[in-house]
Amino acid sequence: MGTQSGPDAAGKPSTKRAFRIWRGDESGGDLQDYQVEVNDGEVVLDIVHRLQATEAPDLACRWNCKAGKCGSCSMEINGMPRLACMTRMSTFEETETVTVTPLRTFPVIRDLVTDVSFNYVKARETPAFAPPADLAPGQYRMQQVDVERSQEFRKCIECFLCQNTCHVVRDHEENKTAFAGPRYFIRAAELDMHPLDAKTDRKEYAQAEQGLGYCNITKCCTEVCPEHIKITDNAIIPMKERVVDRRYDPLVWLGSKIFRRGHDQREQQQAQATRRESGGAAERSPLDSPHGLHSTGGASHDPAAEQQAERGVHWDRQIPQPQTAPVDASGRLPLTELTFDRPAAPSPFGEDVEFPLPATGLNYAHPEQGEQS
Ligand code: SF4
Ligand code: SF4
Ligand code: FES
Repeated sequence: MGTQSGPDAAGKPSTKRAFRIWRGDESGGDLQDYQVEVNDGEVVLDIVHRLQATEAPDLACRWNCKAGKCGSCSMEINGMPRLACMTRMSTFEETETVTVTPLRTFPVIRDLVTDVSFNYVKARETPAFAPPADLAPGQYRMQQVDVERSQEFRKCIECFLCQNTCHVVRDHEENKTAFAGPRYFIRAAELDMHPLDAKTDRKEYAQAEQGLGYCNITKCCTEVCPEHIKITDNAIIPMKERVVDRRYDPLVWLGSKIFRRGHDQREQQQAQATRRESGGAAERSPLDSPHGLHSTGGASHDPAAEQQAERGVHWDRQIPQPQTAPVDASGRLPLTELTFDRPAAPSPFGEDVEFPLPATGLNYAHPEQGEQS
């Protein structure tokens, strides 16, 4: 129950409110009770900071921006996955006990800090944007409608609240190897809708490698997304529909084999004729390219790109491993780590790398890869 405890900076009386906060580490822990001063306009992260400044100086919590933009302060507040810096104390009853626990899907490191490296593993496994081999970066062109379609997914702040909420992995550790999660479904959808992405099998990849089939579109991920990305409606469902169309609709399959091939061949012949007439590839407009056309929901107009996609992801490349900062015997960072008195971490590409990277260093099957290996 809230009790009056004195005026805040603006002269308004502050109250003491009841909190239960999970304290512990990977070996176990429990909820501990605190009575903490709460002032007008404060958010849950303010309370965690007040506790750190007063009776619980060793309370661990991850945060950076306090503006809902870095995605660090994800935790569960009264059982709901939320950003602590965006959760106003005024949304709770004065008499309510506010319970704060770490994200449940990921292993606890300490107190409210969890090890979210599962997400970075899945990020590294997702094949990167594959630009068309015949366009230089300055020649990329997109229609505004295509920019807007994927813009929604680019708002993701990687808070991993959706990943934490998804029941496929929330209580099922065994599903984690086969399931990338909603955050990476929107990445696959974004690239699938990208007209300049030369890989055409994003939805196949989502189905075969990311575990899209495990999702039963409960929309829980959408509900908790602080960026209000319509994960299920705008990414997962369209991808599922396209996978079904492509795999199981015999008419679509047959049609794509008969009509698309002729269409593509004609398109390619026309493009080649235009190039010959205009004196070579150097004078070609990017908008003449099949990649520059308005996308058809991720389907390719380019048989070469289709062939390329069939070769799939370049799984043999070395995936850069995260560099873990050294800790002392008690598991704490040494002071030099905190003051950055150390050389920068080595580049995952090596110190003497020259760009563009050789095809063997890329995580998608570059058209030149076969020639070089
Ligand atoms: S809609 Fe799919 S991805 Fe999202 S929480 Fe439900 S099962 Fe998980
Ligand atoms: S999609 Fe939304 S909930 Fe998921 S990581 Fe991105 S911002 Fe967070
Ligand atoms: S501290 Fe950055 S999102 Fe909360």
